Amino acid sequence: MSRHYEESKKDPSRIIIFDTTLRDGEQSPGCSMNLEEKLRMAALLDEMGVDVIEAGFPIASPGDFEAVNEIAKTVKNATVAGLCRAKAGDIESAAEAIKPAKHKRIHTFISTSPLHMKYKLQMGPNSVIEAIHESVSLARKFTDDVEWSAEDGSRTEHDFLCQAVETAIAAGATTINIPDTVGYAMPDDYAALFAMLLNRVPNIDKAILSVHCHNDLGLAVANSLAGVKAGARQIECTINGIGERAGNAALEEVIMAMRTRPDSLPFKNEIDTTRITKISRTLSSITGFNVQPNKAIVGANAFAHESGIHQDGMLKNAQTYEIMTPESVGLTESKLVLGKHSGRHAFRAKLEEMGYELSDHALNEAFQRFKILADKKKEVFEDDLKALVEDEIASEDNDRIKFMALHVEAGTNGPQVADITLRVDGEEKQAKVQGNGPVDAIFNAIRAIYPHDDSILKLYQVHAVTGGTDAQAEVTVRLEETGRTVNGQGIDADTLVASARAYIHALNKLIVKRHKVRPDALTAADGSF
Ligand code: KIV
Ligand code: ZN
Repeated sequence: MSRHYEESKKDPSRIIIFDTTLRDGEQSPGCSMNLEEKLRMAALLDEMGVDVIEAGFPIASPGDFEAVNEIAKTVKNATVAGLCRAKAGDIESAAEAIKPAKHKRIHTFISTSPLHMKYKLQMGPNSVIEAIHESVSLARKFTDDVEWSAEDGSRTEHDFLCQAVETAIAAGATTINIPDTVGYAMPDDYAALFAMLLNRVPNIDKAILSVHCHNDLGLAVANSLAGVKAGARQIECTINGIGERAGNAALEEVIMAMRTRPDSLPFKNEIDTTRITKISRTLSSITGFNVQPNKAIVGANAFAHESGIHQDGMLKNAQTYEIMTPESVGLTESKLVLGKHSGRHAFRAKLEEMGYELSDHALNEAFQRFKILADKKKEVFEDDLKALVEDEIASEDNDRIKFMALHVEAGTNGPQVADITLRVDGEEKQAKVQGNGPVDAIFNAIRAIYPHDDSILKLYQVHAVTGGTDAQAEVTVRLEETGRTVNGQGIDADTLVASARAYIHALNKLIVKRHKVRPDALTAADGSF
């Protein structure tokens, strides 16, 4: 029996937190991550205490397989899950990818609603039942932790759903997930669905029930919590609520709801909530997906009190307007850390204290950039260092194009001209090119050195790392080329240098991605066994 099943049976108030940021989240347009980024996210999820990390869809592409496999090698505590359709090839590929994991789960799914069976699968109910039996039985040959999902479960006829769930459990599934795939459910209907399954499926006690909610009507968190109140004991969710269309239930919201309202939600989980802010920010910096300022828990305004009346109340007693503390989600003042006279030793010691271990080469590069920054900026905060070091780590891999130098002529009396020097495959190259504004000129100059006419700039975004006019700029650039999307980030006290770094970062990722081809396997119907 899987450890989560045993744990859940021992303590019925225990909720299993299943994070699918790296699978359902990554599936949403513009959210794709490279291997290093996925590994970074998986490590943070593991440290934060999620029970299951759904690391990807191994059959989808060699890149997905590699990511799941590498995550399986590195994750220390969490169970690593790989998604697969009800197909032998998918299941074998998932089994192979998760093999190195200490705790492994195969997650297999098939659609069960009349609409999906008829139009998507083009299969009758009997064939679907057969595919469930075959797929779960095969998955069980590789691990005792098998999850089965009824895609479009919330729009499935009850009698058929009961039959499908009973079949999956009889074949060995220990977790049964009932997704609200299209975000159609209402909280009371979704709760009633779980109550119905608990009442009617004879072998239901042999499995944990799971919620998986999409946010098309803004109800993903409400539905997830309603399902848990009705008896589900696993929540599938993503950081910042990223995911297909309007996204999935946000991990930070379901967790903080349970933590803040134990009177209404008397459940336990293992999440260290003080890690929420860091992981949320890391994800938005990697993907370029900004969190809206008024987003619950992790939005920039979630703990800000602007109105005079609120501020007055807060000064008298924080609980007047604050139902959770900023510290409980890891939101603390960014500390002043180093100045321009700080030496290499202090720099290295500070990075170690912040949990960074850099190679000598990366440390040297980061130290040089820190010195330039400290010269420009009066005060260097922890957030500045974090941004700078993560930028250095991101560009440390085997990039073919490296940024060397930039000079820009800008202002009202145009033309705007960028003079850029890059190192391409070890060879220094320079171009001086005009543009409609300085950023356009920089990007044109990069294109002149390394032509890539098929790619389109889809996003250009600038953020300040800390407050003040001398804050470092964090720039995100998104490029798209024949259906492949990549995000690049660049950090610098000079916004134009940060823009050049971000563009080059994205371009390097695009070059790597050109060699990874996604098979058309995923466009085929997902049911045949
Ligand atoms: O939303 C959904 O139905 C899914 C399944 C594949 C679990 O993501
Ligand atoms: Zn989903």
